[in-house]
Amino acid sequence: MSREIKAKAKPYRTISIPTYYYCYWKYRTDPVYGVINRYVPEKGKCLVLGCGIGLEINYLNRPGRVVRGIDHDQKRIDIARRVLGYGNSLSFETGDAVTYRPEETFDAVTMIDLLHYFPPQVQNHMLENALQLLNPGGVLLIRDGERKAGVRYFITWFCERVSISTGFTIAGGLSFPSFVMLKDFFIARGCRCEILPAWGNTVFSNKLLAVWKPLLQ
Ligand SMILES: C[S@@+](CC[C@H](N)C(=O)[O-])C[C@H]1O[C@@H](n2cnc3c(N)ncnc32)[C@H](O)[C@@H]1O
Repeated sequence: MSREIKAKAKPYRTISIPTYYYCYWKYRTDPVYGVINRYVPEKGKCLVLGCGIGLEINYLNRPGRVVRGIDHDQKRIDIARRVLGYGNSLSFETGDAVTYRPEETFDAVTMIDLLHYFPPQVQNHMLENALQLLNPGGVLLIRDGERKAGVRYFITWFCERVSISTGFTIAGGLSFPSFVMLKDFFIARGCRCEILPAWGNTVFSNKLLAVWKPLLQ
């Protein structure tokens, strides 16, 4: 397990030793990267919104998949490109996840730790947009901190506040979602949903929501 994690983090050594240790620590403590491949189809097109330096793309990038990462932070996109490469099956674009609307559709769309940067009405727009970007039967994965009274939520909120105010992450504000409301949103649109805890060895309130778009609408 530890060897596999080290191997996954190793390419980030080319950026810097602190970047390598950051990635190693993320992979070691955060279960989401190991779990996403259970949900994303083995073959097909995958869109990763808010991909950052490509941590989830490092896991999603497998033969048979075409993966595209979008982030508005040019520096992070440059790192992702440098570490993971760029080609027919893998691409990175600097862009706004809120307004990104390509012509094509995807078999999987992921938003890992992205939604909470936006106010609720913008989140709703992003959820609608993500459904539009999915092929029938495709899967949308949303991982985020859950807004729910308790210590885990407070720590999640506090760490993100620090991350934004120090400039580590470029983002406007903070509004963590309720997973019950997220699920209701998709159930009302005929989707099948599954929610699971996704905090692993961390102190955060993270959960993962998998949403399957209906085959017929
Ligand atoms: C907490 S990081 C998560 C990165 C990545 N998903 C991961 O798991 O490592 C959130 C990312 O969302 C990006 N982001 C925030 N607002 C965005 C927007 N409007 N459009 C595109 N990316 C955005 C940030 O630049 C940052 O890289």
